[in-house]
Amino acid sequence: MEEFVTLTYNGQEIKLPVVIGTEGEKAIDISTLRQDTGFITLDPGYANTGSCLSAITYMDGEKGILRYRGIPVEQLAAHATFKETAYLLINGKLPNREQLTHFSVMLNDNSLVHEDLRTFFQSFPRASHPMGILSAMVNALRSFYPELGSTEEEINITMTRLLAKVRTMAAMSYKISRGHKVIYPRPDMTYCENFLNMMFDTPVKPYEINRAAVNALRVFWILHADHEQNCSTSAVRVVGSARVNLYAAISSGIAALWGPLHGGANQAVIEMLSTIQADGGDPIKAIEKAKDKNDPFRLMGFGHRVYKTYDPRAKIMKKMCDELLETMQIDDPLLDIAKELEEVARKDSYFIDHNLYPNIDFYSGIVLRAVGIPTNMFTVMFAIGRLPGWIAQWKESMDDPKWKICRPRQVYTGNQEYEFVPIHARI
Ligand code: SDX
Repeated sequence: MEEFVTLTYNGQEIKLPVVIGTEGEKAIDISTLRQDTGFITLDPGYANTGSCLSAITYMDGEKGILRYRGIPVEQLAAHATFKETAYLLINGKLPNREQLTHFSVMLNDNSLVHEDLRTFFQSFPRASHPMGILSAMVNALRSFYPELGSTEEEINITMTRLLAKVRTMAAMSYKISRGHKVIYPRPDMTYCENFLNMMFDTPVKPYEINRAAVNALRVFWILHADHEQNCSTSAVRVVGSARVNLYAAISSGIAALWGPLHGGANQAVIEMLSTIQADGGDPIKAIEKAKDKNDPFRLMGFGHRVYKTYDPRAKIMKKMCDELLETMQIDDPLLDIAKELEEVARKDSYFIDHNLYPNIDFYSGIVLRAVGIPTNMFTVMFAIGRLPGWIAQWKESMDDPKWKICRPRQVYTGNQEYEFVPIHARI
């Protein structure tokens, strides 16, 4: 039976339908509010506003639950490949053997990038941030692959092409930034093996596949693969709603992810930990700064708009740090500082009262450091992981017959009407 809420104002009454999700979340459908009442709603940062119906990812911020298409992220991190997870997010179910083989062949067949793209890379200043390069290069793909397709198969090829090429472009930008020879993807390697090989193989010292690093990368990318309507995914949906091509929509998601409040936090966490280390390693100073309302400093990697408990991904990432560093016999003092920071923060009333816990970015940089990824590429790693999620969310919005161009309203607070004053009469 349909449920309603009733709004009353100045004797006027309106009933608005209630929408109930698979897991019982409730929403008030306000799509007729303005035409029926002249009112709009106001919700800075959209903290209380749902933008869409989606069947891709489920999060429960109070219980710390994260599921991709219904499968708990813990199970995917333990048993799935990143390729399987990408297929699951985009197609709605895990691939059978034949589907996975076809997907793998398509990824391999599309993993090279047009040689002319290399001139693009070389024209960026050496000090360019890899996220700026990646966003520009993904947008440029449209010029090299103009056919986006209209049939299901053609669109699948475009989506798979993007998944295959972004990983290659990321490694390519790293090699070119160091003036090293570009290493090409190999069909005999898995998605994760290929990336590490393209990053670290050199003509003088062939890269030896490190199983622990490959596994860490697999888990890292699975944990980042989707996260419902976060800032960068919302950017992909909003830009995509104007019916731009997929490359332009994804390029906007990369730009949004770059921000230190979002995906850029993984780089900011390592910079914060390094500053604390250089400052003597005492976490108390950072904790006090983070609590000081007059200080813009925030404890990077802590807090979350949705999770008001421990981010389930951070739990897995923290465990991965211990296992990976032990296997690789690495002693990273920043991990010790991070653990101390967490211990102090979680006993501090400010963090407790504000429900501030480690999020995915707090420990992820430690894993990337151990694998050998340079700090300024950490958010690129996040972007490669998030790409299947962005593609899945873009496709879901494009397939939604009710999806229309995103165009929010506003409450105007500027000047009321007044006459134009000619320049000679102005004070
Ligand atoms: C990601 O949305 C997603 O799903 C994102 C993500 C994904 O997978 O896509 O999970 C990835 O972006 C993780 C978040 C990475 N960013 C950081 O780690 C940056 C540090 N965190 C904060 O800036 C903040 O917690 C946010 C941005 C993550 C969330 O911000 P909100 O929800 O807008 O919360 P807010 O800024 O309104 O803060 C609420 C209160 C404020 O205090 P009061 O004014 O109410 O007293 O909490 C305080 C804030 O000052 N606060 C912090 C804090 N985070 C929030 N205080 C100190 N340190 C922090 N980190």
